Amino acid sequence: MQIATTVAKFPSRDRAKRRVLVPTMGALHKAHGELIRVAREKAGKDGEVVVSIFVNPLQFEPGSDYERYPRPEKQDEEFCRAFGVDLLFRPNAVEMYADDRSAFVDETLLSTMLEGKSRPGHFRGVCTVVAKLFNILQPDAAIFGEKDFQQLAIIRRMVRDLNYKIDIVAVPTVREADGLACSSRNAYLNHEERKQATVLRKALLAAKDLKTKSAKEIVDLVRKVNDEAPLARIDYVEVVDAETLQPIKTLKPNSLVALGVYFGKTRLIDNIRLG
Ligand code: PAJ
Repeated sequence: MQIATTVAKFPSRDRAKRRVLVPTMGALHKAHGELIRVAREKAGKDGEVVVSIFVNPLQFEPGSDYERYPRPEKQDEEFCRAFGVDLLFRPNAVEMYADDRSAFVDETLLSTMLEGKSRPGHFRGVCTVVAKLFNILQPDAAIFGEKDFQQLAIIRRMVRDLNYKIDIVAVPTVREADGLACSSRNAYLNHEERKQATVLRKALLAAKDLKTKSAKEIVDLVRKVNDEAPLARIDYVEVVDAETLQPIKTLKPNSLVALGVYFGKTRLIDNIRLG
């Protein structure tokens, strides 16, 4: 596995090899492993699987967990090796952002909904860094997880609107044995919060089982199930179209229920397709 920490040191693109990128912020866990596995499948044995690890300061709102975000460098490196990654791109913030930077990538519609309401500037940071990674690494395809389905929808929109010739591949949410979606942020939960966090999956499964077309009934049920966990503080529960993220009143194909819930200071997200 080759490791590059600067743009200049990154091996130049061999167009004969299909290059598939998995962008991450490190602290790699089994969901990232699944993304890398899918990347290899898409790249083929002669293609190149590239993982980027960069804790992107631009997507953390002021006062959030940028400083305390885990950065287990050696462990991540070993993880990538074990998963057969060909190239690891691990730049630092100075390499990625000039002090006087003044150009950004802004998706202006989908970014204002759901997560965007509680995290202003977050998706501008995501789009800017992903566009930079696309430009630097020139992949043929890039892999993203459905846990962050809003991020996925926004990246697809950016790729369409800015004419990137990159296939965006979605990977279903990877979960712990008790149903909690894998996330680097799960490590922040204390024992009791971790136990109660299983309520998210329980609430979403209950929503899926409910025989109704009414988004309001679904939202009410999800809220009710969530209330069984006293430590859960709901930020939002919404039924939306998975592609446009527009709120939906009556279920139709491609509907999805999404939630953001605080346990203490930790904000968890999850979603499920309906119908
Ligand atoms: P990060 O949180 O490290 O996630 C990297 C990728 O892993 C994302 O595509 C995310 O959706 C996916 N992922 C995380 N947990 C998952 C799970 N339980 N199941 C399936 N996929 C999962 O998302 C980011 O980093 C950043 O915003 C990034 C795109 C790298 C830009 O900085």
